[in-house]
Amino acid sequence: MGALDGVLIERGALERLGEAARALAPGGRAFLCGDTQVMELLGARAQRALAGAGLRVCAQTFPPGEASKSLQAAARLYAWLADARAERREPLIALGGGVTGDLVGFVAATYARGVPLIQVPTTLLAQIDSSIGGKVAVDLPAGKNLVGAFYPAARVLIDPDLLASLPRAQLTADYAEVIKTAVIFDAAMFELLEASRERLDDPQLLAALVERCVRWKARVVDEDPHERGARMVLNYGHTIAHALETAAGYGAYRHGEAVAVGMVGAGRLAAACGSWTEAEARRQHALLTAVGLPDRFQGAAPERVLAAMQRDKKVQGGRVRWVLPTRIGAAQVGIELDPGLVRAVVHDLGGG
Ligand SMILES: NC(=O)c1ccc[n+]([C@@H]2O[C@H](COP(=O)([O-])OP(=O)(O)OC[C@H]3O[C@@H](n4cnc5c(N)ncnc54)[C@H](O)[C@@H]3O)[C@@H](O)[C@H]2O)c1
Ligand SMILES: [Zn+2]
Repeated sequence: MGALDGVLIERGALERLGEAARALAPGGRAFLCGDTQVMELLGARAQRALAGAGLRVCAQTFPPGEASKSLQAAARLYAWLADARAERREPLIALGGGVTGDLVGFVAATYARGVPLIQVPTTLLAQIDSSIGGKVAVDLPAGKNLVGAFYPAARVLIDPDLLASLPRAQLTADYAEVIKTAVIFDAAMFELLEASRERLDDPQLLAALVERCVRWKARVVDEDPHERGARMVLNYGHTIAHALETAAGYGAYRHGEAVAVGMVGAGRLAAACGSWTEAEARRQHALLTAVGLPDRFQGAAPERVLAAMQRDKKVQGGRVRWVLPTRIGAAQVGIELDPGLVRAVVHDLGGG
């Protein structure tokens, strides 16, 4: 099964939810879940689409935010499904961002040993990243995504028009992952972004970017479905980003903001070790800042960021492996760097 199987990317795709669910629901019932914020914005439309296809809908909500990616929240959804006597051939629909996709996807993977999952991602991050590739998970107090599964959705309906209601700051943060995709895979998309920096919320532009990013992610997932090698390239910018998120405390930075700082850092490291040129590093930096993303961090001691990086699970044999661009549109994985160089760059990102 390919990562694009069952994926529909189309403006207005939400209206197709009824027929998609109907095809999976011989019993005529569908279970719709989302956080309260998304359900308030889009729940009625989703319910109408489902009812229009003749389905009876059971709906459930949970509070917005990462805290809902928990075993406790999963247990509440299990109880809701069990109370309604949900059966193995009744689809569960995740309407929302990455938190919803991961939580509801995890419940779909495990309730009754797996029920059909339909993802309707509603953030830019969820549309281009978390809804593709089949990874679902909840967090433990000991760490993020520690309990999970590979459980591809039966259908993913990606409707770029749903992004219109996203707060600007969140859309901006999620653009870091779009720029990441361009830097590691797609020079033409990078140029498109440079030319479009004034109209980042343009629906036609968003639709084009979502489609392109999904195709790139799917291609890598197909090459490496269980994340053993090639998929590592998607971690570009994430070595420093994850460490910064840990050191600053979760919530201090939006994920995309941390990724932007991480890309600036990795870009400088790549220039310093000759992987790409100073000019290319500057071009990446200019695009990130033009979009409104940060290029440095505050509120975390650089030494704590460095320590968090050492503890990161990608450390192999005590050494951090870097993803570094070789030019705009290509990257290499598994690079080891001089710790002194890394220290200097991280201190520089942290303000000197
Ligand atoms: N499974 C994967 O492969 C994968 C990949 C990347 C990230 N993730 C996970 O994704 C999660 C982050 O996802 P996220 O950034 O989408 O966060 P999120 O799901 O919490 O959504 C962010 C906020 O936006 C609101 N929102 C969502 N859609 C909206 C819309 N259309 N209009 C207005 N508001 C809307 C939500 O209510 C929420 O408050 C993290 O838990 C991360 O671990 C998973
Ligand atoms: Zn990311």
